[in-house]
Parts: sequence; structure tokens; C-alpha cells
Amino acid sequence: MATPGTIWLTGLPASGKTTLAAALRDRIQREGRTAQVLDGDLLRDGINADLGFSRADRLENVRRVSEVARLFVQAGLVVVAAVVSPHEEGRVRARRVHAAAGSPFLEVWLATSLAECERRDPKGLYARGRRGDISGVTGLDDPYEPPSSPDLVVRPGQQTVEDCVEEILRAFGRLRVSAAPGGASAPAAP
Ligand SMILES: Nc1ncnc2c1ncn2[C@@H]1O[C@H](COP(=O)(O)OP(=O)(O)OP(=O)(O)O)[C@@H](O)[C@H]1O
Ligand SMILES: [Mg+2]
Repeated sequence: MATPGTIWLTGLPASGKTTLAAALRDRIQREGRTAQVLDGDLLRDGINADLGFSRADRLENVRRVSEVARLFVQAGLVVVAAVVSPHEEGRVRARRVHAAAGSPFLEVWLATSLAECERRDPKGLYARGRRGDISGVTGLDDPYEPPSSPDLVVRPGQQTVEDCVEEILRAFGRLRVSAAPGGASAPAAP
């Protein structure tokens, strides 16, 4: 069974984060553990409603999600964060917040290509960006900094959602082993 910790899904808009987060949550809950999804979009309706899309606001968005994730993990939950989190700086800080608390953290990059994300475009975000109706669209005129050392890279679209779930949970399980006292040589819990 998954132990408490955060699975952090980062990727371009429409890369498949929300879809994968829901599949992960369902799978983890079937195994008897409570999972909480922190979806960047939904949090922007509430706790992050005061934030825009400048670099500073995007970093603050990620900082708050990191802190909330840490609290949930300390309460014994598995957190699945589904946040574009386009800046390396923000993701590094999210990892640091968890490390300081001794909480497992798995950074997963959804490396769906921009072309594929634009083809999907369920919210019409890229289309509006291309038309010039809006600016600051990640991947178009706002940067997405690919993670320099993600724990795992998945390619939803080339891989099925179920394949991604399996790979992520396997990597998350390995994290528990290497985080155990004694490091990677420590035996896995039964
Ligand atoms: N593995 C997949 N294969 C094909 N299509 C997918 C896959 N995963 C998600 N999609 C589709 O791609 C679109 C975007 O997915 P989703 O909303 O999960 O992305 P997102 O990363 O959460 O986007 P956003 O950052 O805008 O919230 C949806 O229409 C979804 O049905
Ligand atoms: Mg989403």
C-alpha cells in the first residue's frame, strides 16, 4: 500500500495531469489509503484566487500547493498534486519543503508534446493564445522549463493512463525504500 507522500505531476496545460491524478487517486483509494488531489485549476478558484499568472504569482501558487501538500502528508494522506508548475525554482522548493519534513516526494514530468497538447486543447486555451485573445499561455508566450532531474518521465498519449499509473506507483514505492533509514539498501517493508 502507498505510504504518505506527494506525487507531483508537472507538465504543459492539457498534458494530462488532471486525468492522471484522478486515476492515481482512484487506484490508491482502492488499495485502502486516502488520497487527496490538489489540482492547480481548482485551487485557483479558492486558496489561490488572489493570484494571477506572472512569474511571482505562479511561484506563490506552487509554494502554497507545496505547503498544503506537506500538511496533508503529515496527516497521513497520499497527495497527488496536478499543477503546471512551469518553473524549476518552484518545483525545487516544493521538493525542499517535503525533504525538510522528511516526507517522500516524487516529481513526475508529463512530457506530452506541445503539438499534442494543442491538438487536445479542451479548454481552448492554446487557441485563444494563438489568436492573441489572451497572453501568458504556458508553452506559447510563457515559458515551461522542463524539469532538469525529474524522478520519472511519463508520456500520456503514447502510454495509456493505466501504464502511467503503474509506473508512478512503482517509482513511488521505490522512494519509500530509499527514504528508509539505511538508504537504498534498507529492506522493503512487506
Ligand atoms: N493519456 C491520454 N491520452 C489521450 N488523451 C488524454 C490523455 N490524458 C488526458 N487526455 C485528454 O487530454 C485533455 C487534457 O487532459 P487534462 O485536462 O487531464 O490535462 P491537464 O494537464 O490537467 O490540463 P490543465 O493544465 O489545462 O488543467 C483532456 O481532453 C483529456 O481527456
Ligand atoms: Mg488540469
